[in-house]
Amino acid sequence: MTDTLLQVRGLTVGFPNANGPNTVVNSLDFDLARGGALGIVGESGSGKSMTSLAIMGLLPKGAERTGSIAFDGTELTALPERAMRSYRGDRIAMIFQDPLSSLNPYYTVGTQIMEAYRSHRTGVTRRQARAVAIEAMERVHIGDAARRVDHYPHQFSGGMRQRVMIAMTLSMEPELIIADEPTTALDVTVQAQILDLLAEIRADTGAGLVLITHDLAVVSEVTDHIVVMRDGDLVEQGPAERIFTDPQAPYTRMLLDAVPRIDDEIGLLRTMHTEEGR
Ligand SMILES: Nc1ncnc2c1ncn2[C@@H]1O[C@H](COP(=O)(O)OP(=O)(O)O)[C@@H](O)[C@H]1O
Ligand SMILES: [Mg+2]
Repeated sequence: MTDTLLQVRGLTVGFPNANGPNTVVNSLDFDLARGGALGIVGESGSGKSMTSLAIMGLLPKGAERTGSIAFDGTELTALPERAMRSYRGDRIAMIFQDPLSSLNPYYTVGTQIMEAYRSHRTGVTRRQARAVAIEAMERVHIGDAARRVDHYPHQFSGGMRQRVMIAMTLSMEPELIIADEPTTALDVTVQAQILDLLAEIRADTGAGLVLITHDLAVVSEVTDHIVVMRDGDLVEQGPAERIFTDPQAPYTRMLLDAVPRIDDEIGLLRTMHTEEGR
């Protein structure tokens, strides 16, 4: 066992074509400590999703990957697909932006959690898997889980569907959870609830978390280390607090300025008030 759960070195992803290598992730380095939470932040197109797919070994066709990705001391890039499959879902799980596209509309959520669980555990009966599914749904605070387990995805709200996805992930007891824009499709209050849930799960299970988002506000509460990316390049990285209080790169400052702050809004209201009073 090493203290570093995930070590990424020189990770480069490109889509080579006639015009050249078309690099979309350029020599990325970062570490995730065991039980740590890392935020990857950057605007759309900065290479965040390609980074997470590279870790999962799920890059789209035509992508070329170089560099090193060590998970718990094992070089993932050297693993044959068959061996990688036993890491995916089981030890490393991924939560995507749109839970609808990851859930099959024709099966109940319970069936899907059970199938996912049983595909990674041998000799599990349906009854046992069902109990695991209900327990996982309870852990993500889906009320009345024993009844809701038999409902279909469309019977859940967006936030509840994301909870179902997190329950599915949890049932596998992964050591690393990669959440790629898990709250982007949700409204602000629901976003906060899902982030709280991710933080709670991390504290409960000790799983490492990589939280990917275009929104610096989202990573502020949940992560302890932040990697800022732009157009495939690593702009800067450091402890979350330092990134917020003392950003080194103008790009990070720009992202920070885009984060609405409650005191700013109060300030704005005051200004409007004074102007009106004139
Ligand atoms: N299949 C593909 N072929 C060519 N380029 C792609 C492909 N998929 C993604 N890209 C490009 O890779 C870049 C990074 O994409 P992505 O990692 O999805 O960004 P982010 O998640 O930060 O928004 C983008 O410029 C995107 O257009
Ligand atoms: Mg993305």
